[in-house]
Amino acid sequence: GFKRKEASILVVGLDNSGKSTIINHFKSEEDKTIDIVPTVGLNVEKFKVKSLGFIAFDMSGQGRYRNLWEHYYQDVNGIIFVVDSSDSLRIIVAKDELDMMLQHKDIKDRNIPILFFANKMDLREALSSVKVSQALGLDNMKSKSWHICASNALTGEGLQEGVEWITDQLK
Ligand code: GTP
Repeated sequence: GFKRKEASILVVGLDNSGKSTIINHFKSEEDKTIDIVPTVGLNVEKFKVKSLGFIAFDMSGQGRYRNLWEHYYQDVNGIIFVVDSSDSLRIIVAKDELDMMLQHKDIKDRNIPILFFANKMDLREALSSVKVSQALGLDNMKSKSWHICASNALTGEGLQEGVEWITDQLK
């Protein structure tokens, strides 16, 4: 059958959730960024997982840039949605952004796999991935394949499992 060699992935989530740190984990040693600063607009990054090349659009999560996300919906093969699981107040804002994305014309009728990272699992106040999926209402999201992983982007814990899941969905 047809085997994809490269996939476009949109990495979204609120500011400070850990998107850039997650992408940095997958880049090769020589490409790694030492100081991760808040993303302005977006960064485009390339990396490889299990022979699948990823072009990741790391979108800024800052409020004023969130309207940029939708310009990239049309061409993406998959979405990584990052949540700061220690920020239980703003998880409601994350759910609003997710709901808007799911209702968007370029997303709603396509079976695009969505991987959720319940990131910052190392923090004491972090919600479990089950709690995060409840807060986001993922059980009601019937029209998409989705998967959630608790992750710690500082150590890389949970990241490989998640990205392997989305890689398998894209093959
Ligand atoms: P924007 O670019 O503003 O949208 O933010 P972002 O989602 O790209 O977040 P970024 O990767 O810049 O991380 C924000 C902060 O959270 C940084 O100080 C990271 O070091 C920290 N961080 C990221 N992941 C984790 C994690 O799993 N655990 C902990 N404790 N801190 C994390």
